[in-house]
Formats: sequence, structure tokens, C-alpha cells
Amino acid sequence: MKSIVYTRHGSADVLRLEERELPEPAAGEVRVRIMVSGVNPTDWKKRVGAGDGAATEAPSVPNQDGAGVVDAVGEHVGTVAVGDRVWILLAAHERVGSGTAQQYTVVPAERVVVLPDAIGFDEGASLGVPAITAHRALTVAEGGPARLGPGALAGRTVLVSGGAGAVGHAAIQLARWAGATVIATVSSDAKGALATAAGAQHVLDYTLGGLAADIRSIAPEGVDIVVEVAAGVNAALNTSVLRIGATVAVYGNDKGSQLTLDFRPNLELNARYQFVLLYSLGLDALSSATLDITAALGDGALPVGESAGLPLHRFPLEQTADAHRAVESGIVGKVLIDVGE
Ligand SMILES: NC(=O)c1ccc[n+]([C@@H]2O[C@H](COP(=O)([O-])OP(=O)(O)OC[C@H]3O[C@@H](n4cnc5c(N)ncnc54)[C@H](OP(=O)(O)O)[C@@H]3O)[C@@H](O)[C@H]2O)c1
Repeated sequence: MKSIVYTRHGSADVLRLEERELPEPAAGEVRVRIMVSGVNPTDWKKRVGAGDGAATEAPSVPNQDGAGVVDAVGEHVGTVAVGDRVWILLAAHERVGSGTAQQYTVVPAERVVVLPDAIGFDEGASLGVPAITAHRALTVAEGGPARLGPGALAGRTVLVSGGAGAVGHAAIQLARWAGATVIATVSSDAKGALATAAGAQHVLDYTLGGLAADIRSIAPEGVDIVVEVAAGVNAALNTSVLRIGATVAVYGNDKGSQLTLDFRPNLELNARYQFVLLYSLGLDALSSATLDITAALGDGALPVGESAGLPLHRFPLEQTADAHRAVESGIVGKVLIDVGE
């Protein structure tokens, strides 16, 4: 089978196409024939590593997310069967050579989730990192909800920073599906159009100034949850727009260095900062996320593509290095790699 492999950390130039043996699933594992691989910032960050060009512990295959068809199952697998169409999460996490940038991968059964019939592989490959991160960010507020579904966030106002980002897009969609009022921030009209297409009722350009006042005019009492991509640079803004008892769910620190919090106003707000990292979420949170995401998919709540606010950019497997470069350069939308036919 064809695999994209790297044996040394570094720029996208380290990625090369290789023929590898078809892996066999052990007990509790599933082999998936990959149709589409999804690329996220975490994939190029993992590839770069410490930036010192060190050798990887073993040949690595990039990309956590993907979608395809189960083509073999090991013993004691009862959740999926051969022929099931599935999406994959955490394919390359703490495993050797099992990323989705290859024709087949073997992962633990709990990392594959059946796709509803109407949902395509593009949607499936766009879910893992962004949708699970967004789900977690929306389910850590004081007083809940711990699970998402229609009405779960009714009456709440969610501020999504970076509404045209991949996680931001998923956060807008899941929050709207759950009944929240969503305010998204963006840096341009074009990104604003994407956040609106994703479902945000209010879209604000953070480069224009007056953001706190604009948010307060939409949510006079303040916002309940912030889904934050740029924790450091937005810390002061968040403090000024939080409702008492609100939660800032921080998953990124883009464009920033240190996160510095003004003690007194956050104290007076009984504010909660919840850090969100996909890799250490644990099985319970992952399981809640995959169940709720499956329900949202069934309701048609997580579409992708430009008309849904997430433009797709496609690359063939052979050009995985270019796909990584596109994500690394901050391309707007979702980068997908066509692996299967
Ligand atoms: N903790 C986790 O488990 C986890 C999971 C997923 C992603 N991440 C991290 O989160 C970050 C975003 O991931 P992604 O896949 O969503 O990337 P993405 O698609 O590139 O989106 C990032 C978005 O953030 C926006 N942004 C940057 N600075 C902003 C600011 N000050 N205010 C509002 N928006 C701002 C960007 O737009 P503008 O620059 O135009 O504003 C862009 O739309 C990456 O660093 C990624 O590694 C972490």
C-alpha cells in the first residue's frame, strides 16, 4: 500500500511516498481503507517536533483525521463491521505509523465511528480534531450541559473567536445545533461571510475596534461561554464581556505568547478558565463527543464546503507535503487529501 512517511522531524520536505506492508488488525483493532485524510495544524506541528530535525522514534505517518471503509476487524470488535463507512479520530496518537495519509490504517476500534448514511467522506474527514475540540469547549461550562443536543444550550450566548477557523466553524455549528446564540469574531468580510454561512447569528470584525461594546450590545449581561483560539491576545477582551460565572474554554494561543489574566475582574466574575487539549481528554469525554457529533451529523448540522462556511482544498496523496504547507500557511478552510477511489 502507498503511505506517506517521515523518519526525521522538519519542514514538509521530510514527507515522502513509500510502499509499505498492509497492516493486520490485532484484537480490539480495526483496519480502515482510507478514502479521505484530513489535515489539521496539529499534524504539521507534530511533524516539525522540537524543530531540531531529530529522528522520529519510528517511521511516522501523518494526520490524525480521516474517513473510509472498514475492511478488516480484529477479535473482540463489536462496534463496527467490515463494510461500515466510518470516520477516524486520533489515528496517529501514541501509535506508530498509523496516521491517515496512507491507503490503509489500523487503529483501536474506539477510534472509528460509523458515518450516518447521508454523510460523505469529506464531512467525515473534517470531524476528528475540530469537532471534538469544539464539543469539549462547549461542554465544560459551570452548570453544564455536559452533553450537546437540540436545546442543550438554549438561552446561552457563545462567543466563538476565529469563526472562520476549522475549530471555530465546528463550534458555531454545534452551538447553533444546541440552540445557543452565537457571536463569532473574524478579521475580514470574507471570513465573516464564512462564519455567517456556518450559522453564527452575529459576526464581528475584531480588527475594527469597539469589539467589547459590540458584544455587550448583543449580550448585555455578558456571554456564557467563550470558545477561544487566541487566549493571550484576547484575554482582556474576554474579561470585559463575560457574564458572572462564565467559562473561557481555551484550545489555542494563536498570535500570542503568554496568557496573562487580570486577577480582580476575573475574581469578581467567578470566571472559569478551562484548558482544552484533545490528546488528554480521556475516553469518557471522547465517547460523549462522538455520540453527540453522530447525532448532529444525523440532523445535517455539520456540513462542510464553502456554502457551509468551510471551503475545501483538495490534494492527492502524492502531494501531502503541499497539503501540510497549505495548513501551515494558514489557508482558510479545510485541507483534505484524496487517498482512495
Ligand atoms: N487544544 C486542542 O486540542 C486543539 C485542537 C484543535 C486545534 N488546536 C489549535 O488551535 C488553533 C486553531 O486551529 P484550527 O484548525 O481552527 O486553525 P485555523 O483553521 O487556521 O483557524 C484559526 C483561526 O483563528 C483565527 N484567529 C487568529 N487569531 C485570532 C484572534 N486574535 N481573534 C479571533 N480569531 C483569531 C484565524 O483567523 P485570523 O488570523 O484571520 O484572525 C483563523 O480563522 C491551532 O493553533 C491549533 O493547533 C488545538
